[in-house]
Amino acid sequence: MSEDDVISAKGRLLELLTELNDFELDTIEKWICSNSYKKELEAKKKMKISEKCLIDIGETIKQIIPFEAEMPSENIVPPTVGDQADCNATNTCHIDEFLYDQDAVHELVKEGKLQRHYCLTCNSRNIKDLTLISHSMSRQALQYIFQVLLPKELEDKQVLDVGSRIGAVLYGAYYFSRAGSIVGIEMNKECCDVQQRIINQYAMDNNRIKVINSDVMERSDVVQNSDVIIINVLDFFVDIEKHKQMWYFFKKYIKKGSYLVCNRSMADTLGYLDMFEELMDWLSICNPSQLENEVFFDVEDCSELFLYTVN
Ligand SMILES: C[S@@+](CC[C@H](N)C(=O)[O-])C[C@H]1O[C@@H](n2cnc3c(N)ncnc32)[C@H](O)[C@@H]1O
Repeated sequence: MSEDDVISAKGRLLELLTELNDFELDTIEKWICSNSYKKELEAKKKMKISEKCLIDIGETIKQIIPFEAEMPSENIVPPTVGDQADCNATNTCHIDEFLYDQDAVHELVKEGKLQRHYCLTCNSRNIKDLTLISHSMSRQALQYIFQVLLPKELEDKQVLDVGSRIGAVLYGAYYFSRAGSIVGIEMNKECCDVQQRIINQYAMDNNRIKVINSDVMERSDVVQNSDVIIINVLDFFVDIEKHKQMWYFFKKYIKKGSYLVCNRSMADTLGYLDMFEELMDWLSICNPSQLENEVFFDVEDCSELFLYTVN
């Protein structure tokens, strides 16, 4: 870092500090003079290194799948119930959050590669925001799951991602956690090929991470053996009947004491399927296990992540 860089860094820091009141400033001063600041700085640097692995993987995936991150062999249909039931081809656009974070989306819009609005009456200024949806979890959500929500001690545990798609959750588990075994089950073969290609290309340990091409309901053995089960919203991929069957299946096979992580509350998911009353005693909501790491996150951005244990 040159002298000019140091001056510029000081300038940015001062800019930030001007926004604080006396009490906040005092607290920050004490923190910077403390040992915990040094430890937290080291931890943040490590997180950045792991995050870089995920950024590189994302760049590789962008080269091998369509821009929309939906495969030719897929039949993705907007749901008819729930908070996304108003999505349709006119008002909704899929942009994968694992591949494109907020800055990248901004760049795509600037370059004219992505639109944020659609016209209600052609050629007029009567426009409306497009709903942007993502079928993958963002890097930030993954970091929050493994470094705040779940316990740190996962060495002898198996993490299962139900519907692992392009593998975002698997790579998150690999680089952000110490999970001993990481398994993805995905019904789409093209998606599985992408995941396997990334696992090979990045020389990940095949004894630790693997992908299974199957309907999860054919693999009760894997579900029964998993200690952490991660389920991203499945609404676009299964009809209501199948979706209900899947939750009955999970209730039957996920073992007691396992963790379930979802990116929508189970009260909402089960409520939309009209099965909340029946399954409400199955799960208990949990507090994050690594609260000390919350300092690294914009907690508001992660408020849609939920951790449960199976009763
Ligand atoms: C919303 S995406 C989740 C992607 C990934 N888990 C993430 O969070 O980044 C849901 C995925 O589940 C897959 N899927 C849906 N039903 C499934 C089933 N019964 N068995 C296996 N995969 C399934 C879909 O093909 C889709 O790729």
